[in-house]
Amino acid sequence: MQAHIVLLPGDGIGPEVIAQGERVLKEVARKFGHTFEFSSHPIGGCAIDQFGNALPDETLAACKASQAVLLGAVGGPKWDDPNAKTRPEAGLLKIRKELGLFANLRPISVSPHLVAASPLKSEIVSGTDILFFRELTGGIYFGPSGKEPHESGESAHNTMVYSTHEIERIVRLAGEAARGRRKKVTSVDKANVLEVSRLWRKTFERVMKTEFPDVQYENVLVDAMAMHLISKPRAFDVVVTENLFGDILTDEGSMLPGSMGMLPSASIGSSGPGLYEPIHGSAPDIAGKGIANPLATILASALLLRHSLKLEQEAAAIEAAVDRILAKGHRTADLAGGAGSSLGTEAMGSLVIAELAG
Ligand code: NAD
Ligand code: IPM
Ligand code: MN
Repeated sequence: MQAHIVLLPGDGIGPEVIAQGERVLKEVARKFGHTFEFSSHPIGGCAIDQFGNALPDETLAACKASQAVLLGAVGGPKWDDPNAKTRPEAGLLKIRKELGLFANLRPISVSPHLVAASPLKSEIVSGTDILFFRELTGGIYFGPSGKEPHESGESAHNTMVYSTHEIERIVRLAGEAARGRRKKVTSVDKANVLEVSRLWRKTFERVMKTEFPDVQYENVLVDAMAMHLISKPRAFDVVVTENLFGDILTDEGSMLPGSMGMLPSASIGSSGPGLYEPIHGSAPDIAGKGIANPLATILASALLLRHSLKLEQEAAAIEAAVDRILAKGHRTADLAGGAGSSLGTEAMGSLVIAELAG
């Protein structure tokens, strides 16, 4: 197969982890006889510095013309001024919207080898296998917003908006995914308070009842879900929720396998290239030190092969290589928890490549 993959390293640890994702994809191409062409483009803070724009037109055009996009992370303290004209994060939101990536899949599974790396008790986390569907192009992230003068200074607002269509399409993807898993979908909302959540719940129940009679479903309120996620994570199979709730719950969920550095994500739309990224950010506290965990990005490259290039065997090969490395006890600093010596970003990437090659 021939494919053009766009790399968007971004800021902070983004370039460090993307370098490892690229090396792993090159090894997959070599081993399985594919031709992957790569091109790298600016996004986020580095694009603001160079072009005054967090998503330059040229970057967006390259993404649209590609088969798939692998993104590191954007943002950092340098661009955090609340009065700044634009922010790195705006580039990320724009690319999701422009590519129509309404579904963000965030798998959270706890490898038996990582049970001890979790801050939670092993009897709680072991066996966890959840697939989150976070709605990605609607909700409060994209609803009407603004700021106005106010007698006390200023007021500001953001608005959470969803339409029937936006809810139906993400629920359908969740329902289909559940059919290939344990046939259960949990929808998370705040229907006891928010009008928009009542529309979400009504739509979710209708789609499940009429289109997925073979799949079990339930509703959970978001505040309770924050608790259940860490007290009984095995109770969940597929979880579907709106944009902001999904953002928060999946960062919380990253503590089940023990680190943000382990969780990949896939953002997909109804057609066109998908966008693959770790769920973590630019990690300014460790950027430039060569110690970031590259596994979330490497696992995101596996999702890229599976979902955008339909290369299931290749995706599974990466996941199996990562699993064997963890089984052998290799850990980056975030997973080692101060115990023993830990590997740097590049050394971890090299191990995955050697494992794949062997
Ligand atoms: P963060 O995810 O960057 O970091 C949170 C904590 O997790 C930090 O202690 C960090 O060191 C650690 N961590 C994250 N990834 C790691 C890895 N691969 N290996 C080891 N440790 C890792 O969140 P933050 O500090 O709140 O945000 C920093 C910046 O990143 C902000 O500007 C934020 O907007 C941005 N951000 C970007 C994305 C993205 O580009 N997709 C996602 C989240 C946050
Ligand atoms: C994520 C991030 C982004 C989000 C930010 C950086 C815009 O936190 O991908 O989870 O909130 O979606
Ligand atoms: Mn987030």
